[in-house]
Amino acid sequence: MTADTWWRTATVYQIYPRSFADSDGDGVGDLRGVISRLDHLVALGVGALWLSPVYPSPQDDNGYDISDYYDIDPMFGTLADFDELLREAHARGIRVVMDLVVNHTSDEHPWFVESRDPGSPKRDWYWWRPLPNNWGSRFSGPAWEFDDRSGEYYLHIFSRKQPDLNWENADLRQEIHRMMRWWLDRGVDGFRMDVINFISKPVGLPDAHLTDGTRYGDAEALYTNGPRLHDFLQEMHREVFAGREAVLLTVGETPGTSVDQARLLTDPSRRELDMIFQFDHVEIDQGRDKWDIRPLDLVALKRTFERWQHGLSDAGWNSLYWNNHDQPRIVSRWGDDTTYREESAKLLATVLHLHRGTPYVFQGEEIGMTNTRFRSIDDFADIQSRNYYTDAVTRRGEPADVVLDALRARSRDNGRTPMQWDDTENAGFSTGTPWLATNPNFVHINAAAQLHDPASVFAHYRALIALRRTEPLVTDGVFTLLLPDDPAIYAFTRTHAERGLLVLANFSSDAVAVPDGAMAGWPGSPLVIGNYPDSPPTLHRSVRLRPWESVVVRRGTG
Ligand code: NOJ
Repeated sequence: MTADTWWRTATVYQIYPRSFADSDGDGVGDLRGVISRLDHLVALGVGALWLSPVYPSPQDDNGYDISDYYDIDPMFGTLADFDELLREAHARGIRVVMDLVVNHTSDEHPWFVESRDPGSPKRDWYWWRPLPNNWGSRFSGPAWEFDDRSGEYYLHIFSRKQPDLNWENADLRQEIHRMMRWWLDRGVDGFRMDVINFISKPVGLPDAHLTDGTRYGDAEALYTNGPRLHDFLQEMHREVFAGREAVLLTVGETPGTSVDQARLLTDPSRRELDMIFQFDHVEIDQGRDKWDIRPLDLVALKRTFERWQHGLSDAGWNSLYWNNHDQPRIVSRWGDDTTYREESAKLLATVLHLHRGTPYVFQGEEIGMTNTRFRSIDDFADIQSRNYYTDAVTRRGEPADVVLDALRARSRDNGRTPMQWDDTENAGFSTGTPWLATNPNFVHINAAAQLHDPASVFAHYRALIALRRTEPLVTDGVFTLLLPDDPAIYAFTRTHAERGLLVLANFSSDAVAVPDGAMAGWPGSPLVIGNYPDSPPTLHRSVRLRPWESVVVRRGTG
């Protein structure tokens, strides 16, 4: 990383292709749809797009189960379409980051098909055992499946159609490096690496501690950040990225990772990754798992961000996100998606984007898309949600309405409803029947209605993204949390010498007074960005924030 590395001032936009734009009317988004909407990204001002998987796949987990690393699924288009997307994006100054899913393949990948033969040289490319250990799958049930052909069990941390690759095998690693170079040579600008900190497992695959009420152990601590993770990543860097570091972006998805581990993973001198997606902040409102929902504890959220901001201030780099294809919509989760939808969507954006790191915007977040309505389990498509329902209701006998309520709040399908482009049929996403029902609120929440409205959520995101490009304080200013114990106000500064930015945000539907002490030296500072149409042009001495109001003010010039 050099001081002028492009992704320090850029914002990345995540596209979930099956829900973004459908060019051929089959109800599933595709690459030509993405190409047709690139100007939306230009209008927003992002520097890169991250494309969730478009490789051939049986789609058991919507493409995170890959059966061929060297092609495009016909559902999404062709390699020629992909090359055109690269050209069109690059022509607009937008880089393209591919999703790299190499902790596991599909069970229909030829490697796994071969591996099922106990005599095959590929046998060792997956984890086969005569008897399973007690690990549970992240998609409910055991993490092992018995295979008749082999007479043994194979490990799958996700669905049974996603067998885990054995990275201990050097031939496998070489094959993955080769594939990555092939995409880079084609012109892609980096990788978002799916659960990359799961690739090193303790080879003995020891049993995990049993979790309450299940037969399966919680093995996350055993398979995350395993013994050879850093070796594998450094080898990947040597084999794939060396010499191309300055132009690429590598971001690892790393559940269960501490700040100390993140420093190791992202310190540029160690040559592993540029940044990671940590999970501490998105797990703050859950108990034993994501379905065990707790109210947001703002104080804990602030403390978490503070820890990450400080922990990676002198080494490594943060990624900043509220949303992606695995999370419910942030405005429904921690904002107010009824009375104060626009205000709270803008406030959440302000708070996130004013931290140090690279922000990620998930499609639809920039227009304040919300969670959707699910009437029954039949309305869900996501394998994790459906498996959880079956397991909880059928096996554990939990009340269906309680389980459904958890799914309504937390299901990944909330983030996967079609992008809301305009107020025409299916929100302008498709002329066919969308694979997942469009959120009915598209008639008033859509991109067309916001693009030219200077007071829109979209305009607010555009302004934040532009501020990051032009204001070095956003990139590098020192982060200081103010009012750490205030239950409603999120306040912090970003400073460098005499210059600084102050962020004040009211995470509540009541008006609140900001304690004067928090603002010494700031009254009179001019407004940089506010989320009410009549935000005061300068900061008053006694500030009262209206419901979900946020302001950013500036001190010093130059
Ligand atoms: C993380 C991805 O973001 C998620 O969508 C997927 O289900 C799992 N990894 C398995 O690939």
